[in-house]
Amino acid sequence: MKTTVSLGAVAALVLMAGVSPLASAEAAAQGVDVAVASTDGIRSYNADEVPTFNIAEDGTVDWPTFSGYRRYQSECHVCHGPDGMGSTYAPPLKDSVMRLDYYDFLATIANGKQEVGAAMNLVMPAFGTNPNVMCYVDDIWTYLRARGSGALDRGRPAKRADKTPEYAEVEKTCME
Ligand code: HEC
Repeated sequence: MKTTVSLGAVAALVLMAGVSPLASAEAAAQGVDVAVASTDGIRSYNADEVPTFNIAEDGTVDWPTFSGYRRYQSECHVCHGPDGMGSTYAPPLKDSVMRLDYYDFLATIANGKQEVGAAMNLVMPAFGTNPNVMCYVDDIWTYLRARGSGALDRGRPAKRADKTPEYAEVEKTCME
């Protein structure tokens, strides 16, 4: 049986226990990624209705997380390095997603980002009009959360669930 814990509840428990910041970050991350039942047949959500991965005990990843892996490979890897690990040019997104709010993550991808006054001139491009990214942004988020929380190892996930008809429908509408 799965236990559903809200992030707030985890944070409160951590505060009461007085554990180290690292341990509390880990506990909070786990709370955020607890999948409640997928209600729309498309993907799983946590208690805050933020998309999350769903990895079975035998390692089978849900379709959206697998899709996120593929989209990351084709759209983000070139700058952010293999498996969300970062490069000399751009930060490790597997760590960024453990720190960034889901909505800030979406906004950064849609609008881009440029560190003003930084020693290096680093530019995160805006993808807001690119359907190959924006239609899959939730998938990329869940893939990176799976990586950052340690639920998913490096490389191509060996086993994946099939794409659901509901997912295919939403994808078709988005890409039109
Ligand atoms: C052309 C290179 C390039 C590509 C392609 C690219 N990024 Fe970035 N991205 C960057 C750079 C450089 C930064 C750091 C910018 C800064 O700090 O000002 C960044 C920053 C980010 C951040 C903020 C990270 C943080 O820790 O604050 C997010 C989120 C992000 N990128 C997501 C993505 C995603 C998702 C993709 C693929 C859809 C992607 N990026 C593709 C170069 C790129």
